[in-house]
Amino acid sequence: MGRWLRQVPEPAPVPMKLDYSRVFTDRLDGQHGFPRARLAELVHRFPAILGEVESFRRAGEFGFYGLGRQEATVTAIRRFAEGVGQAYDHVLVLGIGGSALGTRALINALRPAAWNELTDEAREFFPRITVLENVDPVSVAGALRRIDPRRVLVNVISKSGGTAETLAQFLVVRQWLDQALGPDAANRHLVITTDPEHGPLREIAQREGIAALEVPTEIGGRFSVLTPVGLLPAALVGIDIAGLVAGAERALEKGRRTELLKNPAALFGALHWAADTWLGARIHVLMPYSDRLREFAAWYCQLWAESLGKGGHGTTPVAALGPVDQHSQLQLWLDGPRDKAFTVIQLARAGTGPAAEGAELDKGLAYLAGRTLGDLLDAEQRATVETLAQRRCPVRVFRLARLDERALGALFMHFMLETALAGAMLGVDPFDQPAVEAGKILARKHLSEMGRAT
Ligand code: PA5
Repeated sequence: MGRWLRQVPEPAPVPMKLDYSRVFTDRLDGQHGFPRARLAELVHRFPAILGEVESFRRAGEFGFYGLGRQEATVTAIRRFAEGVGQAYDHVLVLGIGGSALGTRALINALRPAAWNELTDEAREFFPRITVLENVDPVSVAGALRRIDPRRVLVNVISKSGGTAETLAQFLVVRQWLDQALGPDAANRHLVITTDPEHGPLREIAQREGIAALEVPTEIGGRFSVLTPVGLLPAALVGIDIAGLVAGAERALEKGRRTELLKNPAALFGALHWAADTWLGARIHVLMPYSDRLREFAAWYCQLWAESLGKGGHGTTPVAALGPVDQHSQLQLWLDGPRDKAFTVIQLARAGTGPAAEGAELDKGLAYLAGRTLGDLLDAEQRATVETLAQRRCPVRVFRLARLDERALGALFMHFMLETALAGAMLGVDPFDQPAVEAGKILARKHLSEMGRAT
């Protein structure tokens, strides 16, 4: 039986609970946080925000609202992955920012740890994958030394098709393929994911007959993880992309609710806005308690920062990891400036993993006796939330019963909705990034002034 023919059982609905009680004064110390009565102000403001979002949508923005229903895209990508994709042992993704971070988050969360080091059998014969986000020459050379050009599929991803870093990577990798395989064969090892009509990469794909997928025109980089940008690499390594999309749709269903208190993403966005505006919480820490969500936190930071940091607005996102950052940043959070709000993502882990055993247990380590690593993680994730609240820090909690495709699809969509709605509340356009253009222009100028490598 081929690896694509396995029957995937239909999983139960996404088990995700949100708890925002610890942002209110009565759950902190009676003075800090905000009084529950002020929630009414947010509820009152919500219809106007929804009206704004609606007019944005009519103007073709908020395209990611359409990502919960995309049977045709899922089918086409699966067909590609099951056909052409099966011929390769390694997928090399070239892209940066929104064209790379979502893919990293997907692999980190949904493929076993150290995927590339596993045997073919352990990977069920799905390919290894490398995401070459940066243009650091040492990393690029290292990756190309490790990968066999005869066995690689290179996915070049750029919405605009004109990003300098990605194009430079493409030119280097293209030459590497050409030298190893010859130009005609090289093209068969390439697939481009870019704008349907515009940009240098689209032109190259058309001119040279390179396979190409489309990023919908109305969806920009950091909102594109659930388009072919993230879905193709995910499908190539055996992730159930239909499950991802189904999870996203579930979050969207809730995100379309017109009552603020029944719309989790809007409520969390509004609470975030309130923490910033009313409480002066200018820093937002996202702290998952799972190694598998480490890259998700990095994805979130880019989404939040680039979408909302405009016109003097925006809170600074900080990616953390529990329990690691309990031993790094927590002291500052608990006892430093009161300028932060927190979101902790908990994953049910009690009773999982190996248990602590051994002779040392009766020498002062009795509290660990018979406890699994999952028990320890579970106890610590609860303790951190409680300690933050005791120290008067507003903290929101996501509780996940499991982390699978549906749960991750829902998490991606939740945070995209929350970010876009927070943008509407702040009065900023969450879909552009005008301030970074100046640096790009300057970098090109410096490049043109440099002497050339011989
Ligand atoms: O979110 C964004 O729009 C950016 O971070 C882009 O993803 C990043 O600049 C890369 O752009 P592109 O996908 O056009 O290469």
